[in-house]
Amino acid sequence: MQSNSHTQDASPVSGETAAPMHAIDVIRKKRDRGSLSEAEIRFMVRGAASESIPMEQLSAWLMACWLNGLALEEIRALTVAMRDSGVKFDSSRLEKVTVDKHSTGGVGDKTSFLVAPIAAACGLAVPMISGRALGHTGGTLDKLEAIPGYRTALTLEEFEAVIVECGAAIVSQTPALVPADRVLYALRDRTGTVESPGLICASILSKKLAAGLNALVLDVKTGSGAFLRKREDADYLAALMVATAEAAGTRTVAVMTDMSQPLGHAAGNWIELVESVDLLSGKRPSQSEDLRELSLILAGWMVYLGGKASSAEEGYGKAETTLRDGSALKHFYAMVAAQGGDVSAFDDPAGFHKPGATFVLKAKQTGWIAAMDTTALGWAVQRLGAGREKAGEPVDAHAGIDFHKRRGDFVTAGEPLATLYATNESLLAEPIALIEGALTFSGVAPEAVMLVSRVFTRDEAVAFLGAV
Ligand code: URA
Repeated sequence: MQSNSHTQDASPVSGETAAPMHAIDVIRKKRDRGSLSEAEIRFMVRGAASESIPMEQLSAWLMACWLNGLALEEIRALTVAMRDSGVKFDSSRLEKVTVDKHSTGGVGDKTSFLVAPIAAACGLAVPMISGRALGHTGGTLDKLEAIPGYRTALTLEEFEAVIVECGAAIVSQTPALVPADRVLYALRDRTGTVESPGLICASILSKKLAAGLNALVLDVKTGSGAFLRKREDADYLAALMVATAEAAGTRTVAVMTDMSQPLGHAAGNWIELVESVDLLSGKRPSQSEDLRELSLILAGWMVYLGGKASSAEEGYGKAETTLRDGSALKHFYAMVAAQGGDVSAFDDPAGFHKPGATFVLKAKQTGWIAAMDTTALGWAVQRLGAGREKAGEPVDAHAGIDFHKRRGDFVTAGEPLATLYATNESLLAEPIALIEGALTFSGVAPEAVMLVSRVFTRDEAVAFLGAV
């Protein structure tokens, strides 16, 4: 008979029964550029999760890892140890292939609301554990919570029940899942050790792999709104994550995608859901074409890696069918309702949208929009009330920006550039200045930027890492 609980790995590691370990020895070894064994890494991770290793020793160890780097084998061991540091979601009980997508974050990035129901409509299971707004980037959970009643904090049993019923669920991380990351990430944030490819890779993948995924598609952003600004850093992280997830047994690709302007026309909370539902309903607003195309490319890879198509191109076609025949929208509404959300809010999306203040920003000059500082645009969205300054602060469901112009558009002075929705009038001035400063006008049209510039499959990732 099946057990009703999700799993916790308490298996011993090699070397665990040998001589006792001491955090100071592991720190000194890494400080002196040594390679840590799997047992040493698991010892540190378990000590973080149980908080039995003091924070000063964990901090020193993280800094040694940051300064001296981690080899591929160390990163794989760290990822697996972190994945196994708490309860894991037992996806085998779903009796379907499980797939997910992870994005490194951006502005107006709402592909989760499309790819999760599309993959579900193609017969796959999507156990999506998502995050909140962070810095200039929006958060999937904050957006979903704009729907009245939508619950993101489900137990693993409720999570499983929603996936069984609807094919997909989008929830927050539970405290029992990957506890090591909660401790280590908070420490990294306070000790200047966030920006380490190995630590980032293990942090992201451990949370994704704890959901028991068979396949994973990574959307790694590049350009002015990306978390990693330098292209070579983004490529390296992408290849690292693909090689590491594959070594841990999950079929994975990374798609390098453009974030040199917001994705689609809406950036905020409720307004991003409305744009997504428009596309799920089969509409094709021209300002949302990039969002539609990227969602179909990512979903195409999910469908292919999940074994429902013989290529990513065939997967794209199957994904597109679910937008045309309404099956993706049906899955989305079923998931929202199963998580307590009131889908009737989408009957009159404009009527439901009640921002405290609205302002139409008009162009002061004529010319082509040659470039956008998308990070600044993300901060503008946050300052309108859609994001938060400190963890735990509430966000405004109705705040955000509707962009009327895109990079490469010709604009005449006086034309509307964007509509801003704020919690109140006093929050408008700073975002207006941010948007005006973020747009570069030119007398010549800029060159087009490719939406997808590269895809790392396992073989390409391994070859890339071998060459650097
Ligand atoms: N997101 C994560 O979850 N972890 C990191 O280290 C960086 C971004």
